[in-house]
Amino acid sequence: MSNTQHAHWSSRLTFILAATGSAVGLGNIWKFPYMVGESGGAAFVLVYLLCIALIGLPILVAEWLIGRRGQENPINAMADVAHQAGRNRAWLLVGVSGILGAFLILSFYSVIGGWSLYYTLSSVTGVFSGQDADGIGELFSGMLASPGLLLAGHSVFMLLVIGIVARGVTKGLESAVRTLMPALGVLLVVLIGYGMTTGYFGQALGYMFNPDWSALTGETVLAALGHAFFTLSLGMGIMMAYGSYLGEDVNLLKTARTVVIMDTVIALGAGLAIFPIVFANGLDLASGPGLIFVTLPLAFGNMGGGVILGLLFFLLLTFAALTSAISLLEPVVEFVEERTPLSRVMSTLVAGIGAWALGIAALLSFNVWSDPVLFGLGVFDLLDKLTSKFMLPLTGLGAIVFVAWALERQSVETELGLKGGSATLWHLVARYVAPIGVIVVFVSSL
Ligand code: PHE
Ligand code: NA
Repeated sequence: MSNTQHAHWSSRLTFILAATGSAVGLGNIWKFPYMVGESGGAAFVLVYLLCIALIGLPILVAEWLIGRRGQENPINAMADVAHQAGRNRAWLLVGVSGILGAFLILSFYSVIGGWSLYYTLSSVTGVFSGQDADGIGELFSGMLASPGLLLAGHSVFMLLVIGIVARGVTKGLESAVRTLMPALGVLLVVLIGYGMTTGYFGQALGYMFNPDWSALTGETVLAALGHAFFTLSLGMGIMMAYGSYLGEDVNLLKTARTVVIMDTVIALGAGLAIFPIVFANGLDLASGPGLIFVTLPLAFGNMGGGVILGLLFFLLLTFAALTSAISLLEPVVEFVEERTPLSRVMSTLVAGIGAWALGIAALLSFNVWSDPVLFGLGVFDLLDKLTSKFMLPLTGLGAIVFVAWALERQSVETELGLKGGSATLWHLVARYVAPIGVIVVFVSSL
């Protein structure tokens, strides 16, 4: 079953960089800091860490384990690993839903990647300079209203993604994350360094880390749970595909711990970069999705060194989006490549152009095609809701239930290097805590 042609990561480090690259995205840079601030600071962080440890981490390990055992794309990996364990091949549906989810998400994720490219360009050309709130607001709404501009951004971004993925795991994915992840780290450190000079760093720290237990409601706990899932890129076949390029020598639990810590540290770091700028400029913290594309550009346009800082920030965002987008294309390409006679390059073109075409429908829903198509939602919102509310939780649930209930307990524990108390703990968490956690989020989000 193990296929000698199948690619492998050249080291544990590049695997960690690729998995972290997938995990670190808009969820870390925009959503997490915002959630922390709104939901009780340190109290929220604590709940979030618990969700990560009890739900996110076990599912991450489960997806890698399935991928590594299969050494092939998520659909075939699920089918073959199930078959080996004497289970029904119908488990492959988990892989189907993962690959489909990745394809659908990529289509609209690339549209946002295009926004990020456009804003990177706008910061260099000084478009933000001297703008007031109305001017910056119009820049954003003007972009959304222009099919041509959105299409240009979406197309260039998708072209970059296709260019990287077409070159394969070693030459494409690994080279990209080897450059982009260190660059991302440096950009973040520089932006945090700037935050320290604003005189508002202490306020930002307090905002993020002062526990306000009263702000902690059932709703915020649910949000923390849902975010733990999203932030680790679970339920999309991504981690299964990345696991399929792993050798036996990599310790899955230890590696998962590293990736989870990096993802969390970068999310916290993003807050320490963004909040000082927000406070120093007296901006609105609760501006929701506008925080990154409206509020921050306003600050960049009206402060010393704003052109440089704006450029650094939007480059950071673009790099984060790019490493996530390549991880979305990979499972789809792996599937096409292994199941058709098409070469790597052709498989990437087929999958990438398919997602690009669907992305056009998504971007038109911001302007000329804004009428609802289904359930009162436009294409963009429909794709977003369908994947994040249904497909991801169900796929992640399928992966953890499969590993914890359908595979032989002893073989999983041996593979994870678990004995005695730690084996019992894994067993309890993987069998009950994590699945119940996902079911609770799934049901309550309906
Ligand atoms: N994990 C990414 C984040 O936190 C989100 C993401 C979702 C990335 C799906 C890739 C695929 O932003
Ligand atoms: Na993340």
